[in-house]
Amino acid sequence: MKHFSIAIDGPAGAGKSTVAKIIADKLNINYIDTGAMYRAFTLKLISKNINLDDLECIIHTLNNTSIDFKDNHIFLDGVIVDEEIRDNNISNNVSKIATIKQVRERLVELQRDIAKNSSSIMDGRDIGSTVLKNAEYKFFLTASVEERAHRRHIDLGVDNPDFSLESVKKDIEARDKIDTTREISPLIQSEDAIVIDTTGECIEETVERILKTIKELNK
Ligand code: CDP
Repeated sequence: MKHFSIAIDGPAGAGKSTVAKIIADKLNINYIDTGAMYRAFTLKLISKNINLDDLECIIHTLNNTSIDFKDNHIFLDGVIVDEEIRDNNISNNVSKIATIKQVRERLVELQRDIAKNSSSIMDGRDIGSTVLKNAEYKFFLTASVEERAHRRHIDLGVDNPDFSLESVKKDIEARDKIDTTREISPLIQSEDAIVIDTTGECIEETVERILKTIKELNK
């Protein structure tokens, strides 16, 4: 089969990364988590105590940072940071950093570069609309905000006293707002993307729906 790309966009907690990883395994293609790249850069800024409003310093840091995603691992300056980037403090600041033009330009270039030599499935917010505009298959995964918050709450540990369902829902809504209203490549449902509402669906069902759709498109 010739080289192809699958773009998966959607808001936080819609199931993109879990679904994309399984599909990558099943189709034996490369998985690229673009959100992990924005998270890694945010981690760098926070761990260096950089003021997140200091654009000049952020851009200077960007020019001295290496980020890569390979073999399902995210590398920040050559070090795997898979776990550190999931910290709630990173989740709550990443969308602000992802609004910065220079940050997006640099990471989009990198994402295109990683995708250019092999078939891949890439998930994020602007994949079908910007990064891989010519992707053969485009999906927009969504779910009700209540369900997305519930899933995140389980991920964070329902017994964790630091996170109530209500606070997780508020954080997701805040992130959705920044992601959908930012000036540069906001999260949108592109016209040519197939919408998959995963509310009330388990991961396997969503994976099957996507694989079935890809098969049908190939007929
Ligand atoms: O996994 P989750 O849905 O929580 O989010 P993520 O994919 O890790 O992305 C974290 C944040 O990075 C998003 O809320 C966006 O602000 C930003 N992002 C982006 O702007 N563009 C992308 N292609 C991917 C992520």
